[in-house]
Amino acid sequence: MARYVINGGNRLEGNIRIKGAKNSALALLSASILTQESVVLRDCPDISDIGNMLSILGGLGCKCSFDCGTITVDSSTLDGAEIENNTAKKIRSSVFLLGAMLSRCKKAKIAYPGGCNIGLRPIDIHIDGLRKLGVEIVETQDALECDATHAHSAYMRLKIPSVGATENLIMASVFLHGKTVIDNCAREPEIVDLQNMLVAMGAKVSGVEDGRAVIEGVESLHGVDYTVLPDRIVAGTYLIAAAMCQGEITLENVRRRHLEALTAKLADNTCNITYKDDRITLYSNGVSTNPPLLSTGYYPDFPTDLQSQFLAMMTIGKGKCVIEENLFEDRFKAANELRLMGADIVVRGKRAFVNGVGRLNGTTVKACDLRGGAALVLAGLVARGTTIVEDIYHIDRGYEDMAPILRSLGADIKRI
Ligand code: UD1
Repeated sequence: MARYVINGGNRLEGNIRIKGAKNSALALLSASILTQESVVLRDCPDISDIGNMLSILGGLGCKCSFDCGTITVDSSTLDGAEIENNTAKKIRSSVFLLGAMLSRCKKAKIAYPGGCNIGLRPIDIHIDGLRKLGVEIVETQDALECDATHAHSAYMRLKIPSVGATENLIMASVFLHGKTVIDNCAREPEIVDLQNMLVAMGAKVSGVEDGRAVIEGVESLHGVDYTVLPDRIVAGTYLIAAAMCQGEITLENVRRRHLEALTAKLADNTCNITYKDDRITLYSNGVSTNPPLLSTGYYPDFPTDLQSQFLAMMTIGKGKCVIEENLFEDRFKAANELRLMGADIVVRGKRAFVNGVGRLNGTTVKACDLRGGAALVLAGLVARGTTIVEDIYHIDRGYEDMAPILRSLGADIKRI
């Protein structure tokens, strides 16, 4: 099993370019089957979640190629709408294909999804929304069997602004006659990216950025050549790394607005942050006083996908910090591993109480989920001595070339 070996203590310095966002690319790949024509997606990250999604699409009969960040999907050969158990368990996004499969094929069968190990992750909002659209759904023990033969446009209000459900329901509605409204929809930048690509394909979708998606059905969609939105979570991870390592780094290809929840916290923590065009530069004097509270929330609040990395940063700060995780029930797994490195963290329910210890010590730790794994790498970069991070297949789901990128910034990290 691959692992990272990190000798901590190096300062990070240099420039890196951020690639397209995993969570955008996954949704856009789902949307690629809404047309019989070719869809070209540029700047896609080469990560295992994308590889698995391409296998799912291949399994449905699509012809896909992935070359130097550009994915081409030709779904004119799509010959089924059934995702079986082994495939669906590998990647949660298989459930996001449901809406698109129903739009394209009317009937679909999908095994219950897998994905990151961070909590219950139910799909009731997806199912309720599809039922509001007139989709008949039979829930068997291990699969959902759906029939959209009598589907129709509808008004609905989501009880929680779920990212996946919003994406699914938009894709399920693009061909439905009349107007579908999804109130209280998620407005994460990745969903706005989906909206933008669908519009470029000829769909009539608007309002996602305001939390109220309006979809007017069209007859068909055409092919598109589209560049994926930059990954704000990968960008945020490297900014936190530089903040921890007293670094000075510039990230190219970022959107300032998408990083604001994080950069506001980093600026409070004595980091100097400047922007120029699509670039952000962070200069850090080291982590100082911890903020008393950090709460995760829906966009534009602090993203849950950066919570573990921020937790790692707080362990080396001065003073106490409470981190409140409001989206997922089981997203403090990294805390147990950080404790092995000397961190002082007590987890009670949805709160982690962190008492900054100034310095961590290298040891062997295990990545338990994607972002928690990244947090352990960040901890290793500042720890005294050698840190070994095991089970890095979790990290491979969402970070392309993490070790070479960090090495280019001066870190001592090897993948073995
Ligand atoms: C997506 C992102 C993930 C991110 C999350 C929140 C992708 C591939 N993944 O995941 O990286 O952490 O958004 O920003 O884009 N919920 C229900 N019922 C449902 C659906 C969700 O109760 O049917 C709850 C979840 O348990 C969770 C909350 O809603 O508490 C948010 O989940 P959701 O926005 O759906 O996250 P994902 O789409 O799975």
